[in-house]
Amino acid sequence: VVDISTFYKETGMFTFDRGYTSTASCRSKITYIDGDKGKLMYRGYDISYLATKKTFLDTAYLLLNKELPTKEELDSFKEEMAKRSFIHEGMKKLFDSFVDQAHPMAILSAGVSALSTFYFDHLDIDSPEEYMEMANRIIAKIPTIAAFSYRYSNGLPIIYPDLQKGFTENFLYMMRAYPHKHVDLTAIEIKALDTIFTLHADHEQNASTTAVRNLGSTHAHPYAAISAGIGALWGRAHGGANESVIRQLEMIGTVDRVDEFIARAKDKDDPFRLMGFGHRVYKNFDPRAKILKKIRDELIEELGIDSELVAVANKIENIALNDEYFISRNLYPNIDFYSGLILQALKIPKDMFAVIFVIGRTPGWISQWIELKEQETIKIARPRQLYLGPDDRTPIH
Ligand code: ACO
Repeated sequence: VVDISTFYKETGMFTFDRGYTSTASCRSKITYIDGDKGKLMYRGYDISYLATKKTFLDTAYLLLNKELPTKEELDSFKEEMAKRSFIHEGMKKLFDSFVDQAHPMAILSAGVSALSTFYFDHLDIDSPEEYMEMANRIIAKIPTIAAFSYRYSNGLPIIYPDLQKGFTENFLYMMRAYPHKHVDLTAIEIKALDTIFTLHADHEQNASTTAVRNLGSTHAHPYAAISAGIGALWGRAHGGANESVIRQLEMIGTVDRVDEFIARAKDKDDPFRLMGFGHRVYKNFDPRAKILKKIRDELIEELGIDSELVAVANKIENIALNDEYFISRNLYPNIDFYSGLILQALKIPKDMFAVIFVIGRTPGWISQWIELKEQETIKIARPRQLYLGPDDRTPIH
């Protein structure tokens, strides 16, 4: 084994930081998180202001342009999104080639990567105007590719975007139109999904954003970088948590079984954990969860949802919020606890939950990619390692 002390002498300062928990990989002016105070800001604006007073497109514009849009700027951004929401007809052949039941995240990732075959002029873009064109194109097309992914994976006829509908409404419409019977969309449903998009729009250097920046540092095509972000987000430790919340609530099944699972969550000999509780960074509360809890309650009341699943979730929440075990460990419901319930109420299938996350996170990924490109010099992301393998073996033949 290599003598580490010699290695240090040869390389100068060298740190070993598994999972990069205490290493900053970049300087950024986009998102600020204070986990102890439960604070999240995009470009200096508090997330609760953006989520309650602004729309997802305001937030996407803010992330990309560093300022909130005026009314005229927002109108033109909306128009731009609608106009660019169609995808090349040739892409339909790509969707046709996948088997039924292919996971929508796999189709989405392939679809976004395939955009580079239609828009190859973006291979070497280097001006702010070209960055914005790429950003607008990809933010506008992702919901269409996402809805097509869902419809193809379920053998349903595809539905084209409707130019008269807004960004979020259009996505819900493409998902739920014929042959589903839930085509009529209510204002609260559109608001709930729009808020979910806003709350997911950026979260500093998480795993998928890091993947996007890493690819950006190699000067890979921007669509390849976003596709890598989708791949990273697919992992169950990242974008899959709200799906696990619903699966766990379904597994618990009825309110009379809740006590048994609360006891299991507290038992140190049992690996069972309550999904949707606790957070690595937010140790007092998750500011996004606070906003979604209110929306979840409004949605349930307006739509008159009275399911056993909601009753199970309510009971778990009430017990955990008053239980010494959870209080002493700062285990509060996180964003995934409420977003899972909201998406379930919006009749979005579970395997689309991560896809929804992608639609919300795309403006953040692209803003981070642009910030990287705007630096004077780009240093390729190339972490080092501690080599623990054999040292200088003698060849035997
Ligand atoms: N249920 C029961 N006990 C829990 C839970 C939970 N969900 N989460 C943490 N604990 C306990 C641990 O057993 C530990 O107890 P101990 O001190 O007696 O040993 C203590 O709380 C601290 O737990 P850690 O694992 O050290 O906390 P960490 O910050 O590393 O983990 C995490 C955070 C991964 C989110 C964890 O709380 C968890 O597994 N939650 C459930 C999964 C989940 O909801 N993930 C989504 C997170 S939000 C997001 O990623 C967007």
